[in-house]
Amino acid sequence: MKILIFGAKGQVGTSLVNALKAIEDLSLCALDREDCDFTDTQKIKEQISLIRPDLVINCCAYTAVDKAESDEITADLVNHTAMETIGKETHKLDAPVIHISTDYVYTGEAKEPYQETDETGPLSVYGKTKLLGDLSLTASNAKHIILRTSWVFGEHGANFVKTMLRLSEGRDEINVVSDQRGRPTYSGDIVASIVFFVEQIRTKKAVNWGIYHCSSNGETNWYEFAVAIFAAAKVNGLINKSMKVNPIPTSQYPTPAPRPLYSVLNTQKLEKTLGHKIPHWNIGLEKVLSFIKAEK
Ligand SMILES: NC(=O)c1ccc[n+]([C@@H]2O[C@H](COP(=O)([O-])OP(=O)(O)OC[C@H]3O[C@@H](n4cnc5c(N)ncnc54)[C@H](OP(=O)(O)O)[C@@H]3O)[C@@H](O)[C@H]2O)c1
Repeated sequence: MKILIFGAKGQVGTSLVNALKAIEDLSLCALDREDCDFTDTQKIKEQISLIRPDLVINCCAYTAVDKAESDEITADLVNHTAMETIGKETHKLDAPVIHISTDYVYTGEAKEPYQETDETGPLSVYGKTKLLGDLSLTASNAKHIILRTSWVFGEHGANFVKTMLRLSEGRDEINVVSDQRGRPTYSGDIVASIVFFVEQIRTKKAVNWGIYHCSSNGETNWYEFAVAIFAAAKVNGLINKSMKVNPIPTSQYPTPAPRPLYSVLNTQKLEKTLGHKIPHWNIGLEKVLSFIKAEK
């Protein structure tokens, strides 16, 4: 099976390529920005018609949430127009698409975990363009799996865990927002779900196409997550001091793009499909810290 991966050098893309390389009988075409710029619609069409993949996995996205507020045209090209193109081109080939989306498509006004069927209402340009991407892919009639995830961290690329470790190098005290609730998600848990669907497609099992929520288990807020990161980093010997973490409300940390205050995703649909629970985020955190320690 020939798999075309877009966004191969991103946080999730790098882990995904590593995982797929370990599976026999897969031919991988892993493309990054240099091979295919997502603002170039013609280039996306060309790559798909040249490679003629059996499956496309898209890990590419405009993920600079705050920058998107003042750069809507680019964010829309990458998150929305590119998905419209991928949907149309893969439909012609009858090749399925696995795509990653976000909790930021929701308003954050819910009081209980979001289900896939819940109404959307993005607050930011990033969330809006990602939602338009989901809708375009759905409308294209291409067979698709959309994994909506949240608060991603992993071994590769930039993320909250690495930011906390970097900040601990120059300071002893930090303020972190405590009134946004969500589910931190280890990139390896997203990759495991993608690999599950790849295997289903490869072995020609009946796939239940559509949208799935894909987050590691355990809901928390950014303040509690930061406290857990510093505690685990200390145990792992990555920092040798106790960081003082002060909880603050979002109102004291204004950002150009508003964030949903509550974006906990209900993952029961995916867990039922996988046949097991997705691991807790603290397991992923340990893996990432061990990786960082081994790299030092
Ligand atoms: N990170 C999160 O917390 C989070 C939360 C929810 C959902 N998600 C979703 O999860 C997926 C993976 O995210 P991630 O954390 O792995 O993101 P990431 O590390 O930012 O990776 C995104 C990739 O897209 C590439 N890209 C951006 N603009 C491009 C363009 N114009 N042309 C070609 N490539 C371009 C980037 O290349 P460069 O490195 O060259 O810029 C990068 O390799 C995305 O769909 C994202 O929306 C992420």
